[in-house]
Amino acid sequence: MSLPDETFGPFDGRVWLNAAHQGPLPRVAVEAARRALQRKVQPHLIRDEEFHLVPARLRSVLARLVNARESDIVLGNSASFGLQLIANGLEWKPGDEVLVPDDDFPASILPWTVLKHTGVVVRRIPTNDGAMTAGALASQLNERTRVVCVSWVNSFSGRVNDLRSLGSLCRNEGVLFVVNATQGLGSLTLDMGALPVDGVTSCGFKWLCGPYGTGFCWLHPDLQAQLESRQAYWLTLAGERWNEMDRRDDSSLGDLGAARFDVFGTANFLNFEPWTASLEHFLDAGLGTIEQHNAMLLDRLVAGIDSAEWWLISRRAPSERSTMAVIEPRRGSAGEAMSRLSRARIDVAERRGRIRISPHLYNSIDDIDRVLAVL
Ligand SMILES: Cc1ncc(COP(=O)(O)O)c(C=O)c1O
Repeated sequence: MSLPDETFGPFDGRVWLNAAHQGPLPRVAVEAARRALQRKVQPHLIRDEEFHLVPARLRSVLARLVNARESDIVLGNSASFGLQLIANGLEWKPGDEVLVPDDDFPASILPWTVLKHTGVVVRRIPTNDGAMTAGALASQLNERTRVVCVSWVNSFSGRVNDLRSLGSLCRNEGVLFVVNATQGLGSLTLDMGALPVDGVTSCGFKWLCGPYGTGFCWLHPDLQAQLESRQAYWLTLAGERWNEMDRRDDSSLGDLGAARFDVFGTANFLNFEPWTASLEHFLDAGLGTIEQHNAMLLDRLVAGIDSAEWWLISRRAPSERSTMAVIEPRRGSAGEAMSRLSRARIDVAERRGRIRISPHLYNSIDDIDRVLAVL
């Protein structure tokens, strides 16, 4: 498939440069959603085995997405779901510390702050707009640090954390390294076979172009072994032996792998089927091809931004390129520029007085030139 991908939209003549907020559904996913809806209109079309097949297919495609084993994938409904299950599943001692970047998105922080009653201390560490070097992180670690949790790409600055160097440091120090990949995965590639990371979570409705209410989590087997789970879900336990569901007890929970942490309601036809179709579509297009296309768009965007008018908050260097360009006006307000963009039928986001432009596989060079002409 060649990019830009024209099986998205139509966008009614608008330019959607806001994947960091909401990824659109490709046509194959719309078709999958229609089929799922039709089966709910005519329930005789729903076959029993689909209660097993729908989550199984999604788990399989997610494993391919991040080069991981299916048994390490948890099906969720958001990015928060995965972080919350790690925070709730670990055994904590009073005084244990969790380190988070001071400027991170709340989804990466809140699951830890609610642990206050167990005596866990959440320390917000100073960063460069959400990103830090391994050296800076090293100076913050101490013998009480149990977890470091960062967003891969910061939602407000577009700055990216180098997972390899931060993860290696944490591994050497015996600290768990947990990543919220929401603003990276789908545009950037992630290889769980090769990274020193313990847990990764992501929502599915931004760069992964799924419906709202989708998400997943990848858990290293060693982390799985440390997590206590006080849930047992009949549907996951039944698995493909649907007919034997009433003979199942919780004794085989341990054989389920990470699936024992799944969100309930995993035969989620209306959400999981279109999301699976989107993810298969991404794999067909080639994750590396999407990454290259998006990098090309970002490079053109960043090269064309008038530095007399705008500060570039996200980074320019290819080694620090993330998924979005974030710019701040040197004079005037972001709101005023947003009005001009809106009149030109260009959709971007305003966050903290900055403009965030997030192109994806359906965007073209022409889209980038349109935004540059208005800026
Ligand atoms: C870094 C980050 N994490 C998570 C989310 C969404 O969180 P959730 O999927 O838990 O609703 C966003 C969305 O705005 C985000 O930018």
